Amino acid sequence: MTETAKNVTSRREFLKHTGRVAAASALVGTAIPYVHAAEDNTIRVVLVGCGGRGTGAAKDAMSVKQGPVKLVAMADVFEDRLKTSYANLKDLGDKVDVPDDRKFVGFDAYKKAMDCLKPGDVAIFATPLAFRGPHCAYAVEKGLNVFMEKPLTADGPTSRRLIDLAKKATEKNLKIGVGLMSRHARPLEEVHKRIQDGEIGDIVLMRGYRMHGPLGSFASEKWPGDPSELLWQIKRFHSFLWASGGNFNDFYIHVIDHCCWMKDGWPVKAQALGGRHYRQTDDGKPSVDQNFDVYSVEYVFDDGARLIMDGRCINGCTQIYNSAAHGTKGMAILSKSGDCGTPSSTYKGQNPDRDKMIWQSKDQSNPYQNEWNDLVDAIRGDKPYNELERGVMASAVSSLGRKAAHTGVEITLDAFLKSEQEYAPGVNEFTMDSPAPLKAGPDGAYPIPMPGIVTDREY
Ligand SMILES: NC(=O)c1ccc[n+]([C@@H]2O[C@H](COP(=O)([O-])OP(=O)(O)OC[C@H]3O[C@@H](n4cnc5c(N)ncnc54)[C@H](O)[C@@H]3O)[C@@H](O)[C@H]2O)c1
Repeated sequence: MTETAKNVTSRREFLKHTGRVAAASALVGTAIPYVHAAEDNTIRVVLVGCGGRGTGAAKDAMSVKQGPVKLVAMADVFEDRLKTSYANLKDLGDKVDVPDDRKFVGFDAYKKAMDCLKPGDVAIFATPLAFRGPHCAYAVEKGLNVFMEKPLTADGPTSRRLIDLAKKATEKNLKIGVGLMSRHARPLEEVHKRIQDGEIGDIVLMRGYRMHGPLGSFASEKWPGDPSELLWQIKRFHSFLWASGGNFNDFYIHVIDHCCWMKDGWPVKAQALGGRHYRQTDDGKPSVDQNFDVYSVEYVFDDGARLIMDGRCINGCTQIYNSAAHGTKGMAILSKSGDCGTPSSTYKGQNPDRDKMIWQSKDQSNPYQNEWNDLVDAIRGDKPYNELERGVMASAVSSLGRKAAHTGVEITLDAFLKSEQEYAPGVNEFTMDSPAPLKAGPDGAYPIPMPGIVTDREY
């Protein structure tokens, strides 16, 4: 059988299988007709969260080489974001088939978009993290495969719920990709193997850095009154812990995740420092977000090895954005620059000196494309593929470090996962008129962490 014929056959078998599961689980929301009546070899994709990354992920999906992928619906809470994204994508020709009646706006838009799919198709989630839980639960209920952006959770209760959902997805044979693309960076895959094979001995220390000036919506001025406070907080999601886990989770999770991968495990506890130094704009207006300007987290693994993660969003300071691992026999540069920048390399001794270099990676493939190739490969070949639990654990470990800095006390991963503070309860019932989950004080400022004073919760 040719490769193509094999792919068609296994996709048919897969659709048959997931179709049975979906029928048994009572499909919901069939008001909108399916896009395609006939079973064929096209994987249909919908995009929920049509911002910068979502648009990029949709492009990556449609660039896979393993058979046709077509974008058939889009959903966002802001019509202008959806329109801009569509304008960016429509030039991909017949890979984009999203007429106006499959462009959905609002908090229930995600359901309407997913109702356009059949079991075995793929939903992309690239909203801020607060919505991953309900969006993913609907996809699993409908028997859809998923690609969702990192991070996935910011608190204990949502982490626990998504871990349960991961098990349900596996039971239904669904394929779930999570946008922690360094796990699909071939140089990091190779350095991981070399470390596991003992090339640098046992890891005793890892160092992760992401230090640069303020980015994205890291800092926010007072809510201007329009759009609604809820929509404004969603737009400025890096500023608010409920929406994103703050800049800590959003910016630092890749480096934290790939360092933990090198240990093939998660740290058991963390203690951390952090503070707010410059919390006003150049013209003197106060910043009302919840972030610290600096973070330094010491994660401890069960064998005593450490991961130090330093993050800073201040202009004028030394900029460092990379990661390294130190072992008993040598060291490795994991990401040379950025979240997974090439080349990765290994060395004898603890300095990255050229004359001590053992190995340097050559691969230049794009990890954002690799993660889609790997997901679609698993869908077409019906191979087990579920990154959800791992993505939740990476998110929980990020949140652990952030919470240790915000409270000023050492916290175990177990205690974090069992913690009860939920930042956006009822997120699945939001409407355009809902109040924001975080309330400002009379001065327009939102509650901020107070290490050493408020220690049982983050704010
Ligand atoms: N893997 C990576 O390297 C990478 C890079 C950038 C962003 N991201 C992640 O992607 C996500 C989005 O980031 P972004 O930079 O694209 O932000 P963005 O603001 O550009 O896009 C988010 C989009 O989601 C929409 N949205 C918000 N809530 C929604 C809801 N309930 N239903 C439907 N749409 C909703 C917003 O209106 C917006 O259009 C974040 O979780 C971010 O961490 C990952």
